[in-house]
Amino acid sequence: MSGMEDKITSLLAEGKVYPPPEQGRDQAWVKSMDEYKEAYAHSMNDPEGYWAQRAEELVTWDKKWDRVLECDLSIPEVKWFVGGKLNLSVNCLDRHLINDRRNKAAIIWQGEPEDDVRVYTYQMLHDEVCRFANVLKKKGVKRGDRVAIYLPMVPEMAIALLACTRLGAVHSVVFAGFSAAALQSRIEDCHAKVLITADGVLRGGKAIPLKASADEALLSCPSVECCVVVRRAAIDVEMKEGRDCWWHREMSAKDISSFCEPESMDAEDMLFILYTSGSTGKPKGVVHTTGGYLTYALHTAKWVFDLKDNDIHWCTADLGWITGHSYILYGPLGLGATTLMFEGVPSYPSPDRFWKIVEKFKVSIFYTAPTAIRALMREGVEHTRKWDLSSLRLLGSVGEPINPEAWMWYYLHIGKEKLPIVDTWWQTETGGIMIAPLPYVTPLKPGAATLPLPGVDAAIFTEEGKEASPNEGGHLVIRKPWPGMLRGVFGSPERYKKAYFDRYPNIYDPEDGARRDEDGYFWMMGRLDDVINVSGHRLGTAEIESALVAHEAVAEAAAVGMPHPVKGQAVFAFVTLMSWAEESDELLAELRQHVRKEIGPIATPDVILWAPSLPKTRSGKIMRRILRKIAASDFADFGDTSTLADPSVVDELVDTRKKLG
Ligand code: WT7
Repeated sequence: MSGMEDKITSLLAEGKVYPPPEQGRDQAWVKSMDEYKEAYAHSMNDPEGYWAQRAEELVTWDKKWDRVLECDLSIPEVKWFVGGKLNLSVNCLDRHLINDRRNKAAIIWQGEPEDDVRVYTYQMLHDEVCRFANVLKKKGVKRGDRVAIYLPMVPEMAIALLACTRLGAVHSVVFAGFSAAALQSRIEDCHAKVLITADGVLRGGKAIPLKASADEALLSCPSVECCVVVRRAAIDVEMKEGRDCWWHREMSAKDISSFCEPESMDAEDMLFILYTSGSTGKPKGVVHTTGGYLTYALHTAKWVFDLKDNDIHWCTADLGWITGHSYILYGPLGLGATTLMFEGVPSYPSPDRFWKIVEKFKVSIFYTAPTAIRALMREGVEHTRKWDLSSLRLLGSVGEPINPEAWMWYYLHIGKEKLPIVDTWWQTETGGIMIAPLPYVTPLKPGAATLPLPGVDAAIFTEEGKEASPNEGGHLVIRKPWPGMLRGVFGSPERYKKAYFDRYPNIYDPEDGARRDEDGYFWMMGRLDDVINVSGHRLGTAEIESALVAHEAVAEAAAVGMPHPVKGQAVFAFVTLMSWAEESDELLAELRQHVRKEIGPIATPDVILWAPSLPKTRSGKIMRRILRKIAASDFADFGDTSTLADPSVVDELVDTRKKLG
């Protein structure tokens, strides 16, 4: 064990509480625990009054709302700032075009090649957004139309999202790492009129085709009338006459002006759809609306990241996820800050890339995922020492519980024992951060997301719906509506109710397990549904299973999560073949490739185990809890197996698992 690992282990053993740093507190937006407690009490006693105040302070409205909240969670139906009118791009752009701020960097973009850097001032970004909004208009995009976006992390992605909001069109971003099939089903679900994509993606020094996947998806997407293509990777693409056009050509057309009148939207008009996995095979189109989402993104960005005018804010997520939506784009730009957008990966060309970028742009706020921290931790601490990290003042974490070892490493080697770490718990559905420390105020415990933000009525419930006692594990629940909450599942009110409001009447159920300690701190324990968290990305086991059984050789499949040192969890699949099919390494490779193609590289099973049959109850239900244990090579205690139709199945699987090692 190295000296450093020793230090981490011994610090953790102490169960120490880390006081928030004093340096910076004087200038912080929230300066004391009392201020937090007061705001929290206000938000609980008078939620409408509290949120009205926040919305008034943070958002520029064309017209003020008539009612703060209309809510009936039994339907469920939630409306915030009813009657209010606003435009999101005005809040992120136009309102900053005053005085010197219009010349301030809005986006600093670091491309994957080191020399590829672009800086957009607020004025420049405003003009580009207007131009692209005019391009979309020319293509027939109107208020309420859906626009699908399938792009690498290039500035055009930010421009495209903001351009949609300019017109009141609804964007639906599909992560560029998803497959053609995944893109196709999402476009089909939301009936997108336009698709914006690129020739390819630059990743890890390679150019990977993207337009080819888009073309494949569009073979069965009749709703898409037009496909705009950004040139990024110098990859030859086919352009379909009458449907496809180049971004740069459209943008430089003579009739495209750099002003576009913003559409004044209702607070409850749909802003975007983002698909996420749940318990069923089909991803849910999570719907967010305009006024509430923006209020919540700004409120949380300001409180949790303590964002100020002179900050350089770097959230390392992709804009294809909610983290990117809220904390690369809307939160920082809405507050008039400078946001950094990075196209590459942490490991290329070497594992010091993140730290090099921190030094290069004097990043002050750094927000990443535990999986990235663990991966960099493995590469050794020397990479962190090559660069000057003294510009940093605040660190953040998101996506999965941060294990205390990773927390300590982050604290010691990146934070140099001086910086606050905000571990932020939230979800695609919540729109913004829900449970997190306030950086200069909340005492930290490594591995705890700490306390709920003002307005967030979080609790731990037992199975029976009673509040759990301190340290008793249970279901995390949110008892009051908040402005950033999802307003529905696109096209399916039944799924909305069933997925989030069925377990406990009138209470939001995030499907996460957690406990609350004697200080009221929340400790997250992971998903309670059949969703696994691979590198901070949600994957439905049902989606993976349906991809597997779609292969002709597969009769039945069960996917579970298995602990993984870097990814948190990895996909482990049990596969029963058709009687005619034969187990072979080729078939194994083919099945992995098949899942990759159906969903995307992140869903590829790390392990596939041939299962002559699966452990099922007499009523035919697969006992996943046993499969999870077998996947983790934890054979000690399978619990009650008396309801299994054929208990010998388990022994057989255990033997095969042992052979795999
Ligand atoms: C799920 C949401 C919006 C965040 C990015 C992922 C897990 C997220 C934490 C955290 C423990 C966390 C939960 C949640 N999760 N952040 N700080 N501590 N768990 O968004 O894809 O919607 O996933 O990620 O299980 O339900 P998402």
